[in-house]
Amino acid sequence: MEEPIVSASLLAADWYDMRSALSSAESAGADWLHFDVMDGRFVSAVTFGPKMVADLKPHTHLPLDAHLMTMEPERLAPAYIEAGVDFLTFHVEAAVHAHRLVEDIRAAGIKCGASIVPSTPAGVLSELLPLLDLVLVMTVDPGAGGQALIPACLRKCELLAAERRDRGLSFLISVDGGINRDTAGLAGAAGADVLVMGSALFSSADPGAVLRAARASFKAARR
Ligand code: DX5
Ligand code: ZN
Repeated sequence: MEEPIVSASLLAADWYDMRSALSSAESAGADWLHFDVMDGRFVSAVTFGPKMVADLKPHTHLPLDAHLMTMEPERLAPAYIEAGVDFLTFHVEAAVHAHRLVEDIRAAGIKCGASIVPSTPAGVLSELLPLLDLVLVMTVDPGAGGQALIPACLRKCELLAAERRDRGLSFLISVDGGINRDTAGLAGAAGADVLVMGSALFSSADPGAVLRAARASFKAARR
């Protein structure tokens, strides 16, 4: 039975105590750590700089999944590559030369993702799909954790999964925003592979139980 990859979004953690956040994500059974990089321009909040990523890197065995919610991702990408991310995802809405950026990220030996906000159609990624390791479908408008999933966005996962099959491609489909034990099933049914989970995980007294329940509803929907 197919298991989802769960990427724990540290945006929802208590930043006073990142050490506990890492160990709680790891002991809950998360597969990756998700960093929402916000620049105060693409979205109004400002979050993780590359130093935070670099400082946490030696203290976890989990792959680091960085999501640049920034303008001019080509200017910031090198610093996050240098910081040691494993996946680097940028927004196509913010990149004029997205093709060149994907090639540069992959040339640095890093897995590359492209992301779309709720108002961007999946078709915009068509030319990039053969080059991508991951497509991140935002299921909320970016900028803050703790929002409700917009169900219409899941249709894009279905379209991308069908296109992946038809074209014989292999990128992962990640969903980000409003994923919890219930919506994990909807994401699984729509063809997602990666569940980014922030507040559902970190605001719970028992993140392990939340994650097990999310995996179970994903797998039940996938059957
Ligand atoms: C939203 C971020 C998400 C966010 C998800 O702008 O991209 O990664 O952390 O948080 P939850 O799971 O709380 O919706
Ligand atoms: Zn994110």
